[in-house]
Amino acid sequence: MANHSQKVWFITGSSTGFGRSLTEAVLQHGNRVIATARKPEQLDDLVKQYPEAAKAVRLDVTNPHEVQTAIQSALDAFGQIDVVVNNAGYGSIGAIEEISDEAIRRQFETNVFGVLNITRAVLPILRQQQSGHILNLSSVGGLVAFGATGIYCATKFAVEALSEALSKEVANMGIKVTIIEPGAFRTDFNGRSLAKPDQLMDEYKAVSGGFLQWLEEMDGKQPGDPDKAAAAMIQVVESDNPPLRLALGADAVGAIEEKLKSMQAELDAWREVSVNTAFEGAEIAAIGG
Ligand SMILES: NC(=O)c1ccc[n+]([C@@H]2O[C@H](COP(=O)([O-])OP(=O)(O)OC[C@H]3O[C@@H](n4cnc5c(N)ncnc54)[C@H](OP(=O)(O)O)[C@@H]3O)[C@@H](O)[C@H]2O)c1
Repeated sequence: MANHSQKVWFITGSSTGFGRSLTEAVLQHGNRVIATARKPEQLDDLVKQYPEAAKAVRLDVTNPHEVQTAIQSALDAFGQIDVVVNNAGYGSIGAIEEISDEAIRRQFETNVFGVLNITRAVLPILRQQQSGHILNLSSVGGLVAFGATGIYCATKFAVEALSEALSKEVANMGIKVTIIEPGAFRTDFNGRSLAKPDQLMDEYKAVSGGFLQWLEEMDGKQPGDPDKAAAAMIQVVESDNPPLRLALGADAVGAIEEKLKSMQAELDAWREVSVNTAFEGAEIAAIGG
């Protein structure tokens, strides 16, 4: 296969879905991969097919010890890390009142603290290299919150904020950050990766029951092709001018456009109230200087 760049990719959640598609695609492109998974034996076939280029490592992103070990394995195997993909995650779906405190914390532990664990551990390496690209899997739900997705979307909004701030913090260090915002893609997300509340409440039947039913009905029929998403992520990494955000899927683009329009309309409708809240004569400076 053509060897475009020989980058070393570090991917979390490589067992199925986006992680698996991306791992296969970057190997086909002639790159090297540290494919991480909670059950690394699920990657045995790829390691067998690409013995020089693929290494499978155990990694639960919520386990700081495994994070350190996995990163050290990458350095031991390939001497560098060029692209880090924070992909591991799942969806805790249900009304805010329906999901238990424990389930909420578990969701943040994986989707937010997991991303932070990996990112904070690789940053010293990328800073020393003066190069690197971090791809964080957010979602269309990182910009738009639908009823019954408040907890999941809160984690993805957090990923958006962390990523956006990080992109500014490391811009002059040769490190790039891209947020990936998929719509509905045909992975295990709506199936085994869907976490439902222990008990649904009658009061939220329409919103939460309806959303869960929609997710289950969509399972296996989602329009998005994870192989095409993987190709798009590779295109971003190979671009000289990668975006901060990449929406994936016409459904994601449509929902984000609607959100932008409604935010603009609301800002315009309430502009007079918004801007007339300063002390008399105060100078208005851009936030952050
Ligand atoms: N598919 C969609 O429609 C969609 C849309 C927007 C965003 N996303 C995001 O895309 C990412 C990947 O999901 P997917 O759609 O590819 O679903 P998936 O096929 O269910 O894959 C989820 C992956 O995350 C891994 N994972 C979960 N918790 C983990 C942990 N604590 N440590 C390590 N790995 C863990 C799973 O590992 P195991 O095999 O061990 O369970 C699996 O490899 C997620 O962040 C998700 O929020 C998906």
